[in-house]
Amino acid sequence: MATRPLTKEERRQQAIMYPVDWLEERSGLVGGIKYFLFRHVPADTNWMQTLGSAALTAFIVQATTGVFLAMYYQPTPDQAYPSIVNITDHVTLGWLVRGMHRWGASVFIILMFLHMGRVFLFGAYKYPRELNWIVGVSILLLGMLEGFTGYLLPWDQTAYWATVVGINLNGTAPFLGPWLAQFLRGGSEIGAETLTRFYSLHMLVIPGGIIALIGLHLYLVVRLGVTSPPWSKEAAGMERPEVDGKVRAGLTRPVMRGGGGRD
Ligand code: HEM
Repeated sequence: MATRPLTKEERRQQAIMYPVDWLEERSGLVGGIKYFLFRHVPADTNWMQTLGSAALTAFIVQATTGVFLAMYYQPTPDQAYPSIVNITDHVTLGWLVRGMHRWGASVFIILMFLHMGRVFLFGAYKYPRELNWIVGVSILLLGMLEGFTGYLLPWDQTAYWATVVGINLNGTAPFLGPWLAQFLRGGSEIGAETLTRFYSLHMLVIPGGIIALIGLHLYLVVRLGVTSPPWSKEAAGMERPEVDGKVRAGLTRPVMRGGGGRD
């Protein structure tokens, strides 16, 4: 059968789509991203349900600014403070990147608490989302640990004495306390080992853990679907309007409060 030659426009479109089709054929990633972006959410989803994405944005800002700071920061007792002064006073836009990272840390923690408050008020921690609540609490703990380890890095008086207080507090915990304090100090005193240890935790271990947990958290959000606000008719146990066959509503459908409608 004779095929007509492609028009210029069709060839242009084919060229643009080639890398996307190549990737989709080998990974299915494009379909996955489309599903993520165009999945069905309850019609009465509201602004409070954007707090999770706001926390995600704050985390991305922290990770990005942190990478740039790590290019100039030196984690030794002699060089830590001078390298911070250098970033603030001499590196191009260093003051801005450092300021974003320092203030952004508080923004990230505040947004996590606001998001957690929203989840609590909407009752979104209940069946079947208990596991996602537990994942969220783990992210929150790691987020606070990230703040604690980052606070020492400027190695000035405030940083040093705040860490002395923090480590001593940990040391008073029953059974594990003394071991934990020793581990955090990297010895019997706060010094060079503590600084490198905190740096490694701050820029490798904890962010790695947070990224993995955010991945799991978002997977569960997509798998379980988003909760309707408490004032919605559906949350009160009324019939859910049928979703048209082409859009998936998340694998598990919300059930009546109190579990009355659970299959
Ligand atoms: C880095 C921190 C976090 C990020 C980036 C994040 C991200 C998100 C996003 C994007 C959503 C869906 C939209 C929304 O409800 O806002 C969500 C939902 C959820 N999050 Fe988080 N979250 C974080 C921390 C937490 C914490 C600390 C908790 C609780 C302790 C938590 C528990 C939940 C639960 C249970 C849902 C499901 C809510 C629903 O179905 O309505 N998350 N999260």
